[in-house]
Amino acid sequence: MKLKKEGVGKAHSKIILMGEHAVVYGYPALALPLKGIEVTCQILPGQKELERDKQDPLVTAIHAALDHLAVTDRQLTYTISSQVPERRGMGSSAAVSLAAIRAVFDYCGQALADQLLEELVNQAERVAHTNPSGLDAKTCLSDSPLVYTRTEGFRPVKLDLSAYLVIADTGLHGQTSEAVQKVKNQGNQAQPYLEQLGHLTDQALVVISRQDLTSLGQVMTQAHGLLDGLGVSCPEANALVAAALEAGALGAKMTGGGLGGCIIALTPSREAAERISQHLAEKGARETWIESL
Ligand code: PMV
Repeated sequence: MKLKKEGVGKAHSKIILMGEHAVVYGYPALALPLKGIEVTCQILPGQKELERDKQDPLVTAIHAALDHLAVTDRQLTYTISSQVPERRGMGSSAAVSLAAIRAVFDYCGQALADQLLEELVNQAERVAHTNPSGLDAKTCLSDSPLVYTRTEGFRPVKLDLSAYLVIADTGLHGQTSEAVQKVKNQGNQAQPYLEQLGHLTDQALVVISRQDLTSLGQVMTQAHGLLDGLGVSCPEANALVAAALEAGALGAKMTGGGLGGCIIALTPSREAAERISQHLAEKGARETWIESL
């Protein structure tokens, strides 16, 4: 196989609108691709062999791609440039792995089908998450919002809401595996929370189909209360959720695994989104993004 002088791959990030944690127990989740927030990986010839590192999903993804292509020459190096903050529930590990696998295939001059890409990225995601639902990888691969359940898989969903989502970073690393474990440790006690979260995601889908933004906001805020009750939020996320509501958001919640990471707030207009973003920045958000729904 003739290797190129450089391989480049890109991927976008994602955000979970509803259903995190409950999705692990078979309830639905709704996630959106964030097409404007990207990561780029570049693969270049290097001076020494790229060592395997099971702790590192990026290196694991590169080796998974090289193994698949049966490339023996592993004297290579990589660069990552990312607009996706690391470990904030925005699919950074999945997005980085996707970009890296695409870059390896480009480096090797090989075409890459989406299904294979998904298999390879899920191999790397198992390193980052131990037991990923697959939602991150799939949403980072998708051009449209997706509903996912473990039993039924994925289906695209139309949002078409004239609304905006403000995403605000607490500045703290999210701790997805720890949070998933924390819920698991609660055994049956977690069940009523998970069930209600599942019910709220179903409700969110109904109100989205009616374009009822007020109810969607309420459902999001209720989901936050349940996630906090499960112990997977954190004081910083709770403070940003309260600040968003105080500034007039229709609803707000933590997003992703939690114990850090980001919150999301629903707003009816760009002006409201900008105002709420500003308020969240004043209340300590490290960074904010506005996404049209
Ligand atoms: O922290 P994130 O954005 O990778 O999301 C994790 C979502 C969970 O439901 C908590 C776990 C999973 O695998 O779906």
